[in-house]
Amino acid sequence: QKTAYEIPLRLVGSEMCIRDRLCCCICSIRKMNTFILLGPPGAGKGTQADLISAELGIPKISTGDMLRSAVASKSDLGNRVEDILNSGKLVSDDIIIELINDRINQSDCKSGYLFDGVPRTLGQANLFLQNDIKVKKVIDISLDDELIIKRMSGRRFHIASGRSYHIEFNPPKAEGLDDDTGEPLIQREDDFPETVKKRLEVYHAQTKPLTDFYKSKASEGIISFISINGNQSVDEVFSEIKSYL
Ligand code: AP5
Repeated sequence: QKTAYEIPLRLVGSEMCIRDRLCCCICSIRKMNTFILLGPPGAGKGTQADLISAELGIPKISTGDMLRSAVASKSDLGNRVEDILNSGKLVSDDIIIELINDRINQSDCKSGYLFDGVPRTLGQANLFLQNDIKVKKVIDISLDDELIIKRMSGRRFHIASGRSYHIEFNPPKAEGLDDDTGEPLIQREDDFPETVKKRLEVYHAQTKPLTDFYKSKASEGIISFISINGNQSVDEVFSEIKSYL
C-alpha cells in the first residue's frame, strides 16, 4: 500500500529522471567531438588522424582501413570490394553508409569520432545528413598532385593499425617495421603509380566537390570548416590543426 504522497513523489521522480536523461543526452551530443578529414589521397589524412585521435581520445574511423581489413580477412565484403580497391575506384555509397552506421554505434564513439576519408562523394555526404550522422568540424588538407605521387611512392603501411610511414619524410624507427608492434610494413597495392593516377582522377571528379559542399554548410553556420596546406611537415600540419580542435 502506498501513502497519498508517495505516488506523486514517485511520478515527479520519474519525470525528473526522463528530463535529466534527455538533458544529459543533448549535452553529451553537444560536447561530442565529431570531425571529418577531407583531402586527396596521400595528403596526410591518416597520419594526422592518428595524432588527433591520440590528442582527443576519440577513435579514428577510416573506411579505407575498414575495407582493407575486410579484404585481408577474406570476408564476403572483402571479396566484393578487393578489385575495386586495387583499381583505385570507389566502393558504393550503400556499403560505406552501412559500415559507418555500425561503427558509430559502438561504445567508443560516445564522446566523438573522427572520419578519415569519408564521406567521399556528395551522395555519401547527403546520406550522412539523412542518417543524422553528427559532424561539427571539417578539416580539409590540400596538396598538389605531383607531391601526392611522390608521397605515395615512398609510403609504407602497417595494415593492422592503418599507420602510415614514409621512407624519407616519416620513417619508422627500425627500417621496414611498425614502431608499436614491430610487425613488417607493406607497400599498398593501390600506391603503385598507375593506380595513384586513377585515384587522383576519382578524387577530382567525385570527392573534391565536397570542399564546396562543406564550405556552404559552414556559411550557413551548420558546421565549421578549416582548410590546411598539406605541403608542410607532419608537425607543422598538426600544430595548425591543433589550434582548431
Ligand atoms: P583510403 O585508405 O581512405 O585512401 P586515401 O583517401 O586515398 O588516402 P590515403 O590513405 O592513401 O592517404 P592519406 O591522406 O591518409 O595519407 P597518409 O597519411 O597515409 O582509401 C583507399 C580505397 O578504399 C579508396 O581508393 C576506395 O577504393 C576505398 N574507399 C575508402 N573510403 C571510401 C569511401 N568513403 N567511399 C568509397 N570508397 C572508399 O600519408 C601519405 C604518405 O605521406 C605517407 O607515407 C606519410 O608518411 C607521408 N606524409 C604524411 N604527411 C606528411 C607530411 N606532412 N610531409 C611529408 N610526408 C607526409
